[in-house]
Amino acid sequence: MSETLNAIVADEVDGRSKGGLTTVRRDALPDYDVLVDVAHSTLNYKDGLAVTGKGKIARKFPMVLGIDLAGTVAESKDPTWNPGDPVVVNGFGLSETEWGGYIEQQRLKPAWLVRLPDAFTTAQAMAIGTAGYTAMLAVLALEHMGVVPGEREILVTGAAGGVGSVAVALLAKLGHQVVAATGRPDTHDYLTALGAAGFIDRAALSEKSPPMQRERWGGVVDAVGGQTLATAIAQTCRHGAVASIGLAGGADLPGSVFPFILRGVTLLGIDSVYAPPDRRRLAWQRLATDLAPDKLALITAGTEPMSKVPELAPQILEGKIRGRMVIDVRG
Ligand SMILES: NC(=O)c1ccc[n+]([C@@H]2O[C@H](COP(=O)([O-])OP(=O)(O)OC[C@H]3O[C@@H](n4cnc5c(N)ncnc54)[C@H](OP(=O)(O)O)[C@@H]3O)[C@@H](O)[C@H]2O)c1
Repeated sequence: MSETLNAIVADEVDGRSKGGLTTVRRDALPDYDVLVDVAHSTLNYKDGLAVTGKGKIARKFPMVLGIDLAGTVAESKDPTWNPGDPVVVNGFGLSETEWGGYIEQQRLKPAWLVRLPDAFTTAQAMAIGTAGYTAMLAVLALEHMGVVPGEREILVTGAAGGVGSVAVALLAKLGHQVVAATGRPDTHDYLTALGAAGFIDRAALSEKSPPMQRERWGGVVDAVGGQTLATAIAQTCRHGAVASIGLAGGADLPGSVFPFILRGVTLLGIDSVYAPPDRRRLAWQRLATDLAPDKLALITAGTEPMSKVPELAPQILEGKIRGRMVIDVRG
């Protein structure tokens, strides 16, 4: 057994974080109770920020990056887990305050692990990754607010991205009429194949708009933030709900309280990183039943070896990756 593990590690250089391929000594892994053989990880928008250093993601150094991992339990001091168990981990500070998934083996806290549903291989789990699991959390949140399939359309913003693609597929499978907001017309065929029933140019949502507009959306899954989120809220129907996931277009929220106090619109914050274990298990169970394998195959942009992560990271920030990229940690 090798003394070292291949990994993508961020160090602080001239006050900025920068991630690259290197090796980590096996005995440097954290002193946590479960050792996992990592098979696959993935490339999320947040990973792009962490690897390039364009976002302040890593809070201590050196930091093994990668917010997701899927693999098999190798050793466990905790009775919940046994060698051979297939597991998935999303968030819980991985790549921020805790060492993450871009490494061949990782030591983790037992409570961070979710048993991988039989429906998925480790590669499929990472094709879903945090982006897809968060899309499921958003769908669960909308359902909790009574957003059910019917006459009212559902808006998904950042639709051709990772979160958006999975949200489109899930909502369409559940019977919703999904309108996809995208800035890439060349993705319309792809989004139609995932189940989108209509399109809106993302530019139409990002222009400054009145705080209340014609009611259109029964529910919204928003990965973009900024003016796009404000416009989506302004167009949401009475007692509809908006799930805010991301900030691909901006972190501000330039709207007013009118949609909330005059139409009873609900704004739902979606936090995947510290979602409680029972919510995670439910999300993964629902993904196993509600995300059709053929749609997941369409969403999967491809599988790349871990050595290519530094090259791919800027591309996801530039919106050049359609759907979800799987990372073969041992490739
Ligand atoms: N809350 C959470 O726990 C959580 C979990 C996962 C992700 N997130 C966040 O959710 C967001 C999406 O993540 P992702 O993994 O889906 O990223 P992604 O694959 O890069 O997709 C983001 C999509 O947003 C759209 N977009 C990008 N720049 C834009 C701009 N300036 N204006 C309008 N639209 C723009 C693009 O969609 P089109 O090409 O279709 O226009 C792009 O494909 C990120 O901000 C991420 O940090 C949050």
